[in-house]
Formats: sequence, C-alpha cells, structure tokens
Amino acid sequence: MNHLKDQFLLDPEVAYLNHGSYGACPRPVFEAYQKFQHELEQEPATLLYREFSRRMQEARTGLSLFLNCESDQIAFVRNVTYGLNMVAQSLKINEGDTVLATEHEYGAVDRMWETICNERGAHLVRVKMPLPLESACSAVDLLKAKIDPSVKFVTFPHISPETSQLFPIHELTKIARSAGAVSVIDGAHAPGQVPVDLKEIGADFYVGNCHKWMLSPKGAGFVYASREHEDGIRPPAISWGNISEGNSSLLLENDWQGTIDISSILAVQDAIDFLNKNRWFETVVPRSRQLISEFNETILEVTGMDDLYLHADLQPPQMRSYLLPEGDHSSLHTDLFHRFKVEVPVFLNPKGNMFRISVQAYNDGSDLERLVNALKEML
Ligand SMILES: Cc1ncc(COP(=O)(O)O)c(C=O)c1O
Repeated sequence: MNHLKDQFLLDPEVAYLNHGSYGACPRPVFEAYQKFQHELEQEPATLLYREFSRRMQEARTGLSLFLNCESDQIAFVRNVTYGLNMVAQSLKINEGDTVLATEHEYGAVDRMWETICNERGAHLVRVKMPLPLESACSAVDLLKAKIDPSVKFVTFPHISPETSQLFPIHELTKIARSAGAVSVIDGAHAPGQVPVDLKEIGADFYVGNCHKWMLSPKGAGFVYASREHEDGIRPPAISWGNISEGNSSLLLENDWQGTIDISSILAVQDAIDFLNKNRWFETVVPRSRQLISEFNETILEVTGMDDLYLHADLQPPQMRSYLLPEGDHSSLHTDLFHRFKVEVPVFLNPKGNMFRISVQAYNDGSDLERLVNALKEML
C-alpha cells in the first residue's frame, strides 16, 4: 500500500502520470494554503500591510535554504513563464547579439525569446541536440561549437519539458561564463525532483517553480539573480516597491506586486517541510526512478521505438519521454484519458511524436500497468 497516495487530492480513479505539467499539492500543504487564504480575508491589512515584509522575508529565507543561496537573491513570482519574461525583458539584448538556446525549450519560452530577439534585431540560435545524446558531454560540445563573439546570452532548461532530458547545467553555465555571456536557466522541472544548489550552479539567472516538483500550491515560482545582475532586473508590472528589506531591484520592484493572494507563496515553507518530513530525496525520488526503470523495457516494446536515452546522466529521476510510432496521434491524449483514465501528455514534437510519463509519490505499478495496457490497445 502506498501511504503517500492518500496524502494527495488527485482523483483515485485516474492513473495520473502527469505530475510534470502542473504538479499536485499534498493535503497538509493545501490545508496550510487555505489557512493563509482565511487569514488574508479575515484581516487583509495585517497580511498585506503590517506583516507583509516580514512574512515574505520568511518565505524567501525558507526557499533560499532549500536552494542554497542568500535570501535576498530570490524574488517570488507566480510561475516560470512570468519569471523568465521578467528576466528576458530586462536583459540588454541589442541589435546583432545572439541568444543561444536549445531546440528543447518549452514552447512559450521559445516564443518569448523569439519575440524579444525579433523586436531588438538580435538572433535566436537554437542549438540542435539530436536524441538520444551520446553523453552529457555531447550536449556540452554541441553548445560550445555554437559559441562565437556575437553570443551574449545563453539559455537552456535544467530538465527539458517534452523530451525530458536532464541537462548538465553546471558545465553549460561554465561555457556561458567563459564566453562572457549571461546564462539564464529554465528550472521549471528541477527543484524537488533533483537537488538544486544555486551557489554551486553559478548561473546569472535561474528561474524555477515551487508548484511542480516541490509540491506547493499553484502560483509559486521564483527568480534567482547573481549579485552582478540583481540590479538589472525589472518586473513586467512595475509597482511601488521598497517594501522588503533587500535593496536590489530584484526585490524592491518585485516583492509587492499590488493586491494579490500571496497564500501559495506562504505555503512554500509547508511544501518544503512536507518534502523533508517524508525524506523525499532519500525515499520518494529513488522509488520513482526505480518504478520507471521497471516499466521502461515494456513501454519501449509496446511502442516499438528507440529509447531516447543512452546515458543515465541525462535521465531525470521522475520523468521519461517515449517516441511514438508513425501515425496520427492527435487524439491519443484525449483517448487515453476518456477511455482508460490514464493521464499523460502527448507532444507533437519536431523530433517525433512522443509522450511523457511523470512518476510521483502517489503513483505505483498499477498506474504504469494501466498505461501499458492502454497503449497496447491504442497503438
Ligand atoms: C521547461 C518549462 N519551462 C517553463 C514552463 C512554464 O511553467 P509555468 O506554467 O509554471 O509558468 C514549463 C511548464 O511546464 C516548462 O515545462
């Protein structure tokens, strides 16, 4: 019996293998979130005025300990889409500059870079990284080969969204640094799935979500900026700041975003406590990895397609993507859900049609068995 399954609010009838898309919040964290919402409605001026600065500072401190950085180096934002826009729109991207990205970006993020580059007369170069990659080093070599003097910005996902590759971000960040380029990491899927040590990574910007793998309620993401860049960052919605104790523009212009519900941000500490209490990285994450590896060969047999991984270093512990055979898969996602109650995302990716499984604390072998049986019938 999987005791953690009861801790989640997910419909027990569904084999929910899609944690990666929107996360899922466990009961104790959701209850804390609702408690903060009550508190807000009961006496709005306490939470949003008298105690605002202290409570946000406490929330930032808790998250900074989890991510190993200073508490004034992170600003809370509602999600990675917003946070990356905040960074990219603040950067001094000029005519003729190159922004080096990968062909593994999240769709909205790719569009964001493309739009900004077009507006500023800059070039967006998407480094080709064919799958399966031979090794983590080959991702590094492919990026390195595209560095030239016009490259002023380098961006990549920590874990790619559709192709589920765990990129060697320490090395990629080093390459950006030695080329004199600013590094921007999309960490939407990393915190809570892999340990994230921001000091060690050494990126200029790292933008992440708490509401995916850290299990916080939805609406909690963060932007980290290095000391060198903390003053060059501005939110898309400029508000009057000077509320927080920090003195960089990262904080002064971000902490107070007007009248909003900050309950999901306040509940981030409860999410961290939940992860720690359940010894997440020692028990849940390895168990998820093990479950995926137990079913991997069977899933590959059913699809009849090549594995997207040759090297264990490139596999995130709780997500894996699989190529689909030739054919029309436009209704696969809906059919899997309506006919089999299996929730997995299907992507019509330029590298081939594929689907992605996410395995989380609430899953067990029966969810993957249901997926396998459904795929047998559908393919
Ligand atoms: C790699 C990546 N970046 C950014 C995002 C956007 O995250 P959010 O919807 O929380 O803004 C996602 C969403 O799944 C993602 O996978």
